[in-house]
Amino acid sequence: MRSSTGFLMAAAILCLFSAAAHAQNSGASLFQSNCQMCHGADGKGSTPTGKALKVANLHDPAIVKMSDAELANVIGKGNKSMPAFGTRLTPPQIESLVSYIRVLQKQ
Ligand code: HEC
Repeated sequence: MRSSTGFLMAAAILCLFSAAAHAQNSGASLFQSNCQMCHGADGKGSTPTGKALKVANLHDPAIVKMSDAELANVIGKGNKSMPAFGTRLTPPQIESLVSYIRVLQKQ
């Protein structure tokens, strides 16, 4: 009995941890789960999918020059092979992605 209680406790703790990971809304974790497969961890689009779809390099001066509002607009509405995220992400989530793109652009 005691050991099964211990097991349940451990399982409950693990569930709490994974729920916390899912609830994470940081730009970095959102980028990892929604954008990285095409844009690459560094935002340069040098992944196999990125190359096949001719993904934009987020370090491109033309994209660096875009305003935060323009970036948020593209992320929400999409552009050619770039999927629209407006129905899947909330405006605050899109804002934190824009801030994360700015961080990547400085690297
Ligand atoms: C299925 C692959 C794919 C995914 C997933 C994806 N993108 Fe893109 N993205 C693209 C492609 C392709 C382009 C180039 C679009 C074009 O032809 O101008 C692009 C372009 C962009 C641009 C440049 C804007 C422009 O006008 O070209 C930004 C910024 C961007 N993506 C951000 C994101 C963010 C943030 C995410 C995650 C929420 C994301 N992308 C997810 C494929 C993808």
